[in-house]
Amino acid sequence: MDKFIINGGNTLNGVIDVPSAKNSYLAILAGCVLSSGVVCLHNYPKFDDIDKMLDILTSLGCKIERKEDRTLYIDCRNITNYVIPQKLAKKIRSSIFLLGPMLSRLKKVLVTYPGGCDIGSRPIDLHLKGLKTLNAKIVERFGFIEADAPNLIGENVHLDYPSVGATENIMMAGVLAKGTTKIFNSAKEPEIVDLQNFINAMGGKISGAGTDTITIQGVEKLGSVEYTPITDRIIAGTYLLAGAGCGGDITIKNVDYEHIYSLITKLKNSGCKIDIKGDTIRQVSNGKLKTFSSIETLPYPGFPTDLQPQALVLQTISEGTCIITENLFETRFKHTPELIKMGANIVTRDRMAIVTGVNKLYGADVTCYDLRAGSALTIAGMLAEGTTTLNDVKNIDRGYEKLEEAFNKLGANIKRVTR
Ligand code: EPZ
Repeated sequence: MDKFIINGGNTLNGVIDVPSAKNSYLAILAGCVLSSGVVCLHNYPKFDDIDKMLDILTSLGCKIERKEDRTLYIDCRNITNYVIPQKLAKKIRSSIFLLGPMLSRLKKVLVTYPGGCDIGSRPIDLHLKGLKTLNAKIVERFGFIEADAPNLIGENVHLDYPSVGATENIMMAGVLAKGTTKIFNSAKEPEIVDLQNFINAMGGKISGAGTDTITIQGVEKLGSVEYTPITDRIIAGTYLLAGAGCGGDITIKNVDYEHIYSLITKLKNSGCKIDIKGDTIRQVSNGKLKTFSSIETLPYPGFPTDLQPQALVLQTISEGTCIITENLFETRFKHTPELIKMGANIVTRDRMAIVTGVNKLYGADVTCYDLRAGSALTIAGMLAEGTTTLNDVKNIDRGYEKLEEAFNKLGANIKRVTR
């Protein structure tokens, strides 16, 4: 298993780009199944989860061409196989996003329960309830989900919770359905808006993404498209939090600041100097900040749960106390025992963590148990005194492209050891 050897104490300085958004690309790759033409996507990010999603599309009969300049050509015109291989589906959460598109195209799909980061129970009840409302027949047995939909019919769907994945699945089930689908209490994440724009560029008729009501008018079919997905707001936020904690002067390029305005506001209030010009954010930090005082993770535009571990690390060495409530996932504090080994002062109870800033963290031997905890512990090693060994960093490769190289480009000292 790969590990990082991190020598802490360096400040971070310089300019860094943000790659395409993992959580947008994954939904859009599922959406490729809807097309009766060829889809051309630019700037594909080399995250492990993207490769796994491409493997699933290949197993269904789609033709994938990867070009040197990170352009993908995806041809799902001859998709025939409605069974999603269990070993692939279990590896990623986004395999479940294929339910809607597969029912729209093939009228049936057989898939096992999805995988994804171990941060909670991660139910799919809202996905299945929404699809049933659109006239899909769904049977769950022997650990599989068998779905049949000879004719999907547009309907009104109310989501008990603004689930990102369920919103995306129901959107994609409504695109080729008869009539109009309305999703009430839909998720408002930027990735939902990106999926709407991608589908409309293929000839779909969706409106309202980014608000809590999305309308999908069913169309006959979708054609070819050339599309560039948005960049990754969670990676941008990870870089800002690393720069804030390590100290220094960094400039992040290719980011929509509105996508992480909840974080930018907190960083400014904690003492970072932040300048925004177009799609560029410059941040200067002396590494000695005040805590955020509180973090409530919420659906967009609230504070993103995917930045909670990284923001928690910053609180461990900031002045004061911070109360962190993780409202989305029930077990997303696996990074805290590892941080306590490094000298952090954290008390957790269920979905709450109370962090009291200490003068410094000390390098230790720690392990990352999920993607964002991994990026958080990488930051912890960078701002700690001494050397940190971070084990099982393959979890980080699911959603970052060689994170160690990105941070080393800014002045960090991280070595990946593969054994
Ligand atoms: C997406 O997961 C992202 N993953 C997650 O990013 C992100 O944390 C999450 O949205 C929230 O923003 C991808 O897009 C691939 P949800 P998803 O459905 O769709 C409950 C990362 O690190 N819920 O919005 O699975 C659920 O229990 C990953 O990049 C139901 O109750 O998230 C949770 O409490 C981690 N029933 C809440 O909704 C359902 O049917 C949010 O889940 C579905 C969800």
